[in-house]
Amino acid sequence: MFLNYEQEVDLYLNLSSKGEIPLKFSYIEQGAQNWNKYMEKSIGQADSTYKIEHKLLQTRYLEYFTKIYKGKTIDLLDIGCGEGTPALNLISKLLVQDIKVKYLPIDISKQLLQTASDKIRTNYPDIEIEEIEIDFEDVNLSKKTSLSEQVRLWCFFGNTLGNFSDPQRILRNFSMAMAEDDYLIIGNGIFNNVHKSQWINYYYDKGCEKLASFVPNIYGLDNKISTYEVEWSDQFKQIEMSLVLNQNTSINIAEKNINLKNGEKILIARSAKHRDSDLFQMYSQAGFRVDTFVTNQERTYSLSLLQTNRGR
Ligand SMILES: C[S@@+](CC[C@H](N)C(=O)[O-])C[C@H]1O[C@@H](n2cnc3c(N)ncnc32)[C@H](O)[C@@H]1O
Repeated sequence: MFLNYEQEVDLYLNLSSKGEIPLKFSYIEQGAQNWNKYMEKSIGQADSTYKIEHKLLQTRYLEYFTKIYKGKTIDLLDIGCGEGTPALNLISKLLVQDIKVKYLPIDISKQLLQTASDKIRTNYPDIEIEEIEIDFEDVNLSKKTSLSEQVRLWCFFGNTLGNFSDPQRILRNFSMAMAEDDYLIIGNGIFNNVHKSQWINYYYDKGCEKLASFVPNIYGLDNKISTYEVEWSDQFKQIEMSLVLNQNTSINIAEKNINLKNGEKILIARSAKHRDSDLFQMYSQAGFRVDTFVTNQERTYSLSLLQTNRGR
């Protein structure tokens, strides 16, 4: 079976009660290849999230990391590691600054965990790697990661937080797993009135559509009975990718039927662009303090460096 029973129940509940197919399942099994292709394209594209984030990291944070970590070994926990390119870039920069790394990729997708590990191992055969396969939306991260002799740098790259219906819950899970000296670096798209229409074009992309449609297609919601649509939601400050049905249909998930109606819109992915102030509030409510917050010149993307807020 494509998903295990628990995942199918999760999918069933999301679709039947919220009209949503969570994007997280689209990275599993063959879906991983769609992400690999998406990244291949992003790496060559000047305005991709990957490129913007990479530049910000290099120009605004590398010097700081060098200062605090030089001569040390760090555990690099790569949350939602994807195919590992962002981590590989960071690791290669840290190593030349005399910072040793143990790499701990964390992901729901066994396939992407393997791709990320292989990428790091091929380039740096001596690096110790420990893969952590979990759904961080569901599972308590502190129970799956161990305290370490080393300092820990947690990374959450690729605007992944923007994909979840309850980002606060995700952040809380991270903060509960972090020790006082740990840092979390997190990349988020930010709200910008001027760029709304550009975002819509950005997500009306074949690669995006293929990635987000992977799970719906498996369950029979394909382009014969639905149309892919991208919209901006002013209410939630997010891009919403949906499939709009052109006929009534019934699908079976976790041995239960869900009846879907002609004209119904199924949300298959979201990408939230938070305001700075909303981000700061979310961080604070999740138990973080903001060490540093930087954006690109166009103010479409941010990188935040966070620590837990005990006693501060
Ligand atoms: C948008 S991609 C970003 C990948 C990588 N960080 C990058 O910047 O290239 C999101 C990644 O998070 C993983 N992911 C999404 N939801 C997850 C969840 N609930 N638990 C664990 N991993 C998840 C996906 O499998 C995917 O690898």
